[in-house]
Amino acid sequence: MARDKRVTNTNCLTTVQDGRVYSVSPAISILNTLLRNGVAISHVCGGKAVCGTCRVKIFGGAENLSPIGEAERVRLMSGRGDKGLPEGVRLACQTYARGDVKIKVLSNPQKRKK
Ligand code: FES
Repeated sequence: MARDKRVTNTNCLTTVQDGRVYSVSPAISILNTLLRNGVAISHVCGGKAVCGTCRVKIFGGAENLSPIGEAERVRLMSGRGDKGLPEGVRLACQTYARGDVKIKVLSNPQKRKK
């Protein structure tokens, strides 16, 4: 029996802060998925792993995420001394989902001080 690729290739990105669910593609970063769907998330450097403002907390599906690359690792470790990577935190601009994931946006541009 043929499988419907539209269904089998659709993965869900759930934002736990409001329970909304979005389709996510492994070819589109979590940041761009959120922005395309109108979710407020800071992204000061435009997705270059420089600013660290696009942090998200992973609440489920971490095994479905792309591995942490060197640029992301450097940014996440910045200012943490020898504490290691913050647990369950990723840069949305550097992270791609290959399956269902649940996240919480940790920065909101509307809440930032001016
Ligand atoms: S947008 Fe700057 S690190 Fe992701």
